[in-house]
Amino acid sequence: MSAQAMLTVLVTGASGGIGSAISRALAEKGHRVLLQGRNAERLQQLKAALPHSDRHQILVADLLNEAERLELVRSCEQLPGGLDALINNAGVSAFALLGETSDKELARLLHTNLLAPMALTRDLLPLLKRSQRAAIINISSAFGHIGHPGFGAYGASKAGLHGFTETLRRELLDTGIRVHYLAPRAVDTSLNSEAVNGLNHALGNKSDPPEKIAQQCLQLLHSKYGRRRFVGWPERFFIKINALFPALVDSALAKKLPLVRQFAGATDPLPEPGKS
Ligand SMILES: NC(=O)c1ccc[n+]([C@@H]2O[C@H](COP(=O)([O-])OP(=O)(O)OC[C@H]3O[C@@H](n4cnc5c(N)ncnc54)[C@H](OP(=O)(O)O)[C@@H]3O)[C@@H](O)[C@H]2O)c1
Repeated sequence: MSAQAMLTVLVTGASGGIGSAISRALAEKGHRVLLQGRNAERLQQLKAALPHSDRHQILVADLLNEAERLELVRSCEQLPGGLDALINNAGVSAFALLGETSDKELARLLHTNLLAPMALTRDLLPLLKRSQRAAIINISSAFGHIGHPGFGAYGASKAGLHGFTETLRRELLDTGIRVHYLAPRAVDTSLNSEAVNGLNHALGNKSDPPEKIAQQCLQLLHSKYGRRRFVGWPERFFIKINALFPALVDSALAKKLPLVRQFAGATDPLPEPGKS
């Protein structure tokens, strides 16, 4: 790859399942990756295993901590070649009925998955505007488009990320920055607890390897226009059905509620027959 084609890309949550696959895919294509996460040891191991290991940089930061986020931004500002792309991938999930979700858990989900990427993107915009090839990719989830029982806070955070991405793409149409949105279905990573994997198995939901998401991400990075992409069939179809005929999806999910309650370990009593 020529030096001109090499991009400098910040990947948040690089130490996780999807983040490390994206980082590997970028490094294999000759790009320079800024590996962000909280776990320095895991980031070191990842960096050491990447092609052109010396080219990449580790940026340890908890994105929920404002001072650490601003330090991350300062580190990016000091890069001699600037920053070309930001991949907002860091995220957390939780599987619980709303009645069993604490304020602290609601705040953690919304802060990590929505507020932190919004704030980081805002802080990095001046730097990204200096790049001729700037791109932002927000990693969301199919659950941002199909409200699934047991994932209220997670789904709300990802639906919010969709609204943010759409707005930002339009807000930046008169700049060179392309804003992309990537919403996978279930992916084989440690984000999903045993209960979530058990539920997916019981419901016959399929999942993808993280490398598939990484390839989609790479395609978006080189796409000329801001794009919105959903991964997985039949989930892509259900997302369209849900947008047009949500009552159909209500009925389908109503049949799955007993399994959801079972795997979520719901402790409140089941509704009396005829009152649900
Ligand atoms: N796995 C799925 O089924 C699935 C499906 C659809 C969408 N997604 C989305 O894909 C993205 C990546 O998920 P994954 O499956 O790769 O999860 P993962 O393996 O658990 O990785 C999550 C990453 O996010 C980082 N992170 C979490 N909280 C952070 C914070 N406060 N500050 C900085 N970094 C933080 C973690 O860093 P540490 O290592 O330091 O904890 C880790 O690197 C998420 O946005 C997720 O919502 C996942």
